[in-house]
Amino acid sequence: MENSAEKLPFPAELMSERLLVWYRAQGRELPWRNSRDPYRIWLSEIMLQQTTVTAVVDYYHRFLVRFPDIETLAAATVEEVLTLWAGLGYYSRARNLHKTAQQVVSEKKSQFPQSVEQLQQLPGIGRSTAGAIAALAFDLPEPILDGNVRRILSRLFAVRAPARDRSVEKRLWRLAQQLVPAHSAHDYTQAIMDLGATVCTPKRPGCEQCPLAELCLAKTFDLTAVVPMFRQKMKVPTRRQAIILIVSNSKKLIRRRKTEGLLGGMLEFPVVDLSDRVAPTTAVCELLSSYGCQAAADYIGTIRHSYSHFRLEAEVYTLSCSQVQIKTDHDLYWQSDADLDELALHGAHKKALALSRAKRRATDVWD
Ligand code: ADE
Repeated sequence: MENSAEKLPFPAELMSERLLVWYRAQGRELPWRNSRDPYRIWLSEIMLQQTTVTAVVDYYHRFLVRFPDIETLAAATVEEVLTLWAGLGYYSRARNLHKTAQQVVSEKKSQFPQSVEQLQQLPGIGRSTAGAIAALAFDLPEPILDGNVRRILSRLFAVRAPARDRSVEKRLWRLAQQLVPAHSAHDYTQAIMDLGATVCTPKRPGCEQCPLAELCLAKTFDLTAVVPMFRQKMKVPTRRQAIILIVSNSKKLIRRRKTEGLLGGMLEFPVVDLSDRVAPTTAVCELLSSYGCQAAADYIGTIRHSYSHFRLEAEVYTLSCSQVQIKTDHDLYWQSDADLDELALHGAHKKALALSRAKRRATDVWD
C-alpha cells in the first residue's frame, strides 16, 4: 500500500472477528462460494462487475456448461462468448474475458497468477477484481474496494466527502488494507460483500442486525442517510434511434456491429439515428431504400435502455417484405426467428424483439 497506516478507532481484529462470526451464521449460499478454482472465481467476479447476483446466477451456470475450464474458453471464438453473454450488458467484459483466457493459456500455462500486480496486467481485471481473486482463490490478505465496501468503510469511519474523490478513495484503500485479516481473507472478503448487499444497503440500512453497528461512526453520529456521499451526477444525454425489424418467411434481417467500439461484435437489427431535423418515418425509409427496398415500415412502440454514458430511446418499426427486395452482404443477413433468442443480440434489441412479439400476440388475439 502506498501510504502508511492510519490509527483506527477500534482494533482491526475486532472488526474482522465480528464480521466473520456474522458471515458464518448469515452468509449467502452462492454458486461460486464453495470453489477455490481461480477460473470460476475470476468468471464470477467479472460477471458480477456492475451486475447483481440475481442477474448473474443463470449466466454463470450456462457459461460453465459450455466453458468448463479456461482452455475451452480460450479455444472458443469471441462470437460464441458474446452469444452466451448476450443480455448481461457491458460487453467489453466478455471480450476481455476471452482475451484473458487466451493469455493465461498461452503465456501462463493455464495458471492464473496469484499476485494482485500480475492479475491487474490481465485484460478486464482492475485493482478491486484482482484483490477479490487473490483473496477468494488464494486466501491472500488483499483488500477489495467495490461499491459495497466503499459504502461500508465510508460509514464505519463516517467519511463526509465523496467516496469517489481521489484522496478519499486512497484513504479507503488504505483502510481496506488495514482491516483485511492475515488469515481467513477468503471468508472476510465474502463477508464484507454480503454485509454490503444485505445489511449495509444504500437506503435504509439494517443497523439493528449489523455486526459492526457498535463500531460504526456513521451509526453513532446518525449519519447513515448522508454517508457515503456522492459527487454531483453528470446528466446523461438521450440518443434517439429507430430499430427496424424486417421480416420475411419467418426470418429477420440482422447485422453484426463493428468489432471496435460500443457493443463491438454484437448482433442487432438495422438501426438509424434520429434527429429533430428529419421525421422518423423519412429516416426509416432512407435506410430501407439504401438496402434496395422501397416499402414503408409500421411503428409499433418505443423501448428505452440505459447505458453508462447515455440513455437510448428507440422507436421500433416492423416491415414484412420479400427477401429478394433486400441487398444483403456478409454483415447484413437473414436469420431464422427461432434462432434469434440464442444469438448475441444486445439488450436494447432484445427488448425490441420482445416488443414485436408481444404486439404480434396482441393482434393475433384481437384480429
Ligand atoms: N459481488 C462481487 N463479487 C461477489 C461475490 N463473490 N459474491 C457476491 N457478490 C459479489
